[in-house]
Amino acid sequence: MDETVKLIDNQGRRINYLRLSVTDLCNMRCCYCMPESGVAKIGHRDVLSYEQMLTLARHAVAMGIEKVRITGGEPLVRKGIVGFLGELARIPGLHQLVLTTNGLLLEQMATDLRRAGVQRLNISLDSLQPEVFSRITRRGDLKQVLSGIAAAEKAGFPIKINMVVMRGVNDSELADFAALSLEKSYAVRFIEYMPVIKDDNWQSLVLSGEEILNSLARHYSFTQVVSGGLSGPAREFKIAGACGTIGVITPLTGHFCQDCNRVRISASGKVRSCLFSDEEFDLKPVLATGDLASIQAVLRNLVMSKPASHGMTQTSSSHAPFAMSQIGG
Ligand code: 5AD
Ligand code: SF4
Repeated sequence: MDETVKLIDNQGRRINYLRLSVTDLCNMRCCYCMPESGVAKIGHRDVLSYEQMLTLARHAVAMGIEKVRITGGEPLVRKGIVGFLGELARIPGLHQLVLTTNGLLLEQMATDLRRAGVQRLNISLDSLQPEVFSRITRRGDLKQVLSGIAAAEKAGFPIKINMVVMRGVNDSELADFAALSLEKSYAVRFIEYMPVIKDDNWQSLVLSGEEILNSLARHYSFTQVVSGGLSGPAREFKIAGACGTIGVITPLTGHFCQDCNRVRISASGKVRSCLFSDEEFDLKPVLATGDLASIQAVLRNLVMSKPASHGMTQTSSSHAPFAMSQIGG
């Protein structure tokens, strides 16, 4: 590829990972993501069409994006998603197509997703106890998600399980979650809770990555494994004798900003170079023109405006001003 068209930011970070939200709607209402009432629906006409998303993805891949993660809301609730994924998977130069889901619809969709060319699934699962699970998700059914995970495995997907750890809510289940990596080759990842919902008490919910690892070390002995390439910001470990891995993702305490290789596009075509940045570009007007140079210019400007790091830490008094479901995590 012509090196001059590649997306490289001011810090010399090569941007090769695009997170694309296809809808802000969701069939759950996780307490750390959305208010009970859900989020204000973006108008039907404001959501990018699949056609527009494909155009965007093609340009982004031509500029060096190698990995696309489809997110939501819950991506599987959008009509026609399987066909769209099939088209995406066929873009030459796209090496990885992966998807984040809450698993509710996986039982019926896993085989089709695999056939469409999705390579990996991240499944959000925050409790293995039915009542805790319903309290966190407000409307999820644990059994259905577990059947979905089983179906995904059967369909041949490598499985990642993402648990958002919240003190006093689900932190008593850390060892149970780690145990999921023993018999199966699951990658179980523990994520520090981030303050995206207005909650004055958010600090009390945070369990840092170090605390999570210390707690796990009381149950298991594990060693760090090196993960590279497009594998993302998790620090990964293997419990002695386990088939899978465990890992921590530390957006608050870990500052993986220096290795950040991603940009995000919301379902309505707003691009953000950093989850915690207020700056957004609207891609819709340029997408409407279909003009290659303008689309590329917007992507390049976006990458150039990517901050060196975000200021959010465990002791910050503010919280991020967005609903995660609109950005897709
Ligand atoms: N803190 C940490 N992770 C979050 N996610 C969403 N909201 C938060 C939050 N407040 C991530 C979770 C979830 C995915 C959809 O987005 O990993 O599984
Ligand atoms: Fe839906 Fe995922 Fe948000 Fe939960 S975290 S409400 S599953 S988008």
